[in-house]
Amino acid sequence: MLVVKEIKELQERIEREKEEGRTVGFVPTMGALHPGHLSLVEKAEQQADFVVVSIFVNPTQFNDKKDLTNYPRTLDLDLELLTGTACQLVFAPEVATMYPQEDTRQFNFGKLEQVMEGQFRPGHFNGVAQVVSKLFDMTKPHKAFFGQKDFQQLVIIKNLAKQLNLPIEIVACPTMREEDGLAMSSRNQRLTDEQRKNAPHIYQTLTEARNKAHEMSVKEVKAWVVETIDQNEFLQTEYFEITDDEYLNTVESWNSPLNKVGCIAVHCGEVRLIDNIVFE
Ligand code: PAJ
Repeated sequence: MLVVKEIKELQERIEREKEEGRTVGFVPTMGALHPGHLSLVEKAEQQADFVVVSIFVNPTQFNDKKDLTNYPRTLDLDLELLTGTACQLVFAPEVATMYPQEDTRQFNFGKLEQVMEGQFRPGHFNGVAQVVSKLFDMTKPHKAFFGQKDFQQLVIIKNLAKQLNLPIEIVACPTMREEDGLAMSSRNQRLTDEQRKNAPHIYQTLTEARNKAHEMSVKEVKAWVVETIDQNEFLQTEYFEITDDEYLNTVESWNSPLNKVGCIAVHCGEVRLIDNIVFE
């Protein structure tokens, strides 16, 4: 496994693979890798010949500077973890390499960036689009792999690829969870023992909500989820929305023919956790 910090080296290596007829699968990450990330690498191995992983904590997507400072950076451990996988090339650039000058581009995803995460993290998706568009341009993969854990990000990246006419297939990968149901996240490391014990209540409530859908209206389920989670003294719901999986419009009725996803953000002490569940 080769680790490179410079764009030119990254491009030369990928070009060589492509010339030899190999397809390229790309997994962008911000490091602090866990089995959720590694499941993306596995998916990439199944669907592409040459797997590239990027590790870069992207400053432009952090609307909260404290969150950027506190974000775990564990490059040596990450590389160790990747050594046991199919990843053949790691791109781990410095901030100055990715942003030699300020990125002033403003993307417009319309409603997709105004709701849920967009509403509570202004500018976040613009930063994600800035870095992912740069990474796509540098790696030019055949396929790129994203987790359903960050459901709204996935929808926006698909939109970005279409807006820019990129010949990249965006592959959605299922959310990996701890045994108690908590969605794996680099941020879980920052939970205290007591917070960690209570955090699975989020997904437990989401799965129960899916059963309630048979007996309650959409509006009632939404209210029930917020109430149930907030009853736990360690958890405070920021939002819970049930939207379709393409336009992110609020679903008003279970009879809607679109796929329905319940998306949630919860504060657990200083840590903000997100998760989602598909309603059948
Ligand atoms: P990061 O949070 O490191 O996540 C990298 C990828 O791993 C994303 O596609 C995310 O959805 C996926 N992922 C995270 N937790 C997962 C889990 N429990 N199960 C499955 N997949 C999971 O998302 C980002 O980084 C950044 O915004 C990035 C796209 C790299 C741009 O900076």
